[in-house]
Amino acid sequence: MAEPQLAVIVLAAGQGTRMRSRTPKVLHRIGGRSLLEHVLVTAESLAPDRTVVVVRHERDLVAGAVTDAAPRAVVVDQDDVPGTGRAVEMALAELAGFTGDVLVLSGDVPLLDAVTLGDLLAAHRRDGVAATLLSARPDDPTGYGRVVREGDGTVARVVEQKDASRDEAAIAEINAGVYVFQAGPLREHLALVGTANAQGERYLTDVVALLRASRLAVAAASAPDASAALGVNDRVQLSDAAAALNARTVRHWQREGVTVLDPATTWIDVTATLAPDVTVLPNTHILRATAIAEGATVGPDTSLVDCEVGADAVVTRTDATLAVIGAGATVGPFAYLRPGTDLGAQGKIGTFVETKNARIGEASKIPHLSYVGDAEVGVGANVGAGTIVANYDGERKHRTRVGDHVRTGAHNVFVAPVRIGDGAYTGAGTVVRKNVPPGALAVVPGSQRNVEGWVETHRPGSAAAQAAEKAAHGSQEEDG
Ligand code: UD1
Ligand code: CA
Repeated sequence: MAEPQLAVIVLAAGQGTRMRSRTPKVLHRIGGRSLLEHVLVTAESLAPDRTVVVVRHERDLVAGAVTDAAPRAVVVDQDDVPGTGRAVEMALAELAGFTGDVLVLSGDVPLLDAVTLGDLLAAHRRDGVAATLLSARPDDPTGYGRVVREGDGTVARVVEQKDASRDEAAIAEINAGVYVFQAGPLREHLALVGTANAQGERYLTDVVALLRASRLAVAAASAPDASAALGVNDRVQLSDAAAALNARTVRHWQREGVTVLDPATTWIDVTATLAPDVTVLPNTHILRATAIAEGATVGPDTSLVDCEVGADAVVTRTDATLAVIGAGATVGPFAYLRPGTDLGAQGKIGTFVETKNARIGEASKIPHLSYVGDAEVGVGANVGAGTIVANYDGERKHRTRVGDHVRTGAHNVFVAPVRIGDGAYTGAGTVVRKNVPPGALAVVPGSQRNVEGWVETHRPGSAAAQAAEKAAHGSQEEDG
């Protein structure tokens, strides 16, 4: 027999008052995605026939996020009748005529994984029940609806924390806010849901007791990992969810062959990828679409946003965004790589160096105290300590080109636009305003002038004057 069709309804209309935020709750982010995006991505793993997302609070923002994450999803607006029951009712109106299974997900339950969800749906179909809800036994059940069971263990109803008696509040099994329903019975019984509760809302959870009153079976499947059921209502739960998700992500990469020294201070977005034998040192953030190749070492104290790190590269105490770091290259400690940095294989961006929109060729080095922006550096070049690229004339940015195997002296300024030819050298302290031909040595004219005796005349009696006098005396003795 063919499987029934599957429709997913995602509830995302609530205000999220307890977040105390300008941002709608479901758009708060953990692990590199909004709460809602996590839910939509997980829902997609079941390849549903229909997906409906219910919105109301900040509807345009939330609807935009839905379209970005799940273009095939249909957005439905909830009216001013509050409650999760009303939200599902409005989604069902969009699904008029649908007769399969309806999976209801909450936009604020982001850690639900595809396996738990798949198992829930399979159990529901196997048991042939009217509804199956996902339950869990978290360490602290406060705030969740509780699953009330009969003496024989069958599910009787769900009671909200605010409506619970003391005995009910003592129940450890909570409702995760994730359910599968047969469409027909759901539609029929939702219509019967009233508002006689502490919040005066139409609760979806009331459908459970109503189905039972019609002698229809309701099952509850317990999530093996209680974190999958974690609901985010405030910022404390937001950071709990972020930590739980991160722990899951770190464990995943450890099992794939990545060494993570300190999982608690290593943050990896779900969108990042790491190859085997990568080593991640403490206090490191690997964010967005960052990809780290085999054998690379990153950290400690490093943040990589949308970066590509080549095999065996070493990136230490670095902040980098939209940068490419070649194989075997070294970066840091204390480097700042801004967007458009592209460091070639075996290259080096060293200590207290900032780069932006700069292509640095294979085996080229910028070892110390430099700013290199809007520049191209050839292969095998060495940019001297303390070099600054003056790329901005106050109105426009200009490019600097440094050729292959160039050696520039310490404390140079390259005043863009300017070109330093292949194999050229520059002296220490050179302000390069004109192009340097290949193979030339550029130095600034004007030689050093020493004003003899200046200290004795202008700073008489100072420690410097005494030291100078002593040195002069000593050299006379040596001379004599
Ligand atoms: C809900 C459940 C509770 C469960 C918990 C799990 C109800 C009545 N209670 O409580 O049993 O333990 O989730 O996390 O369902 N929403 C709408 N429209 C509304 C109200 C809410 O779309 O009118 C959405 C919210 O945006 C949210 C989800 O539904 O994504 C849950 O709403 P919330 O107010 O957070 O319910 P809880 O009090 O957490
Ligand atoms: Ca909630």
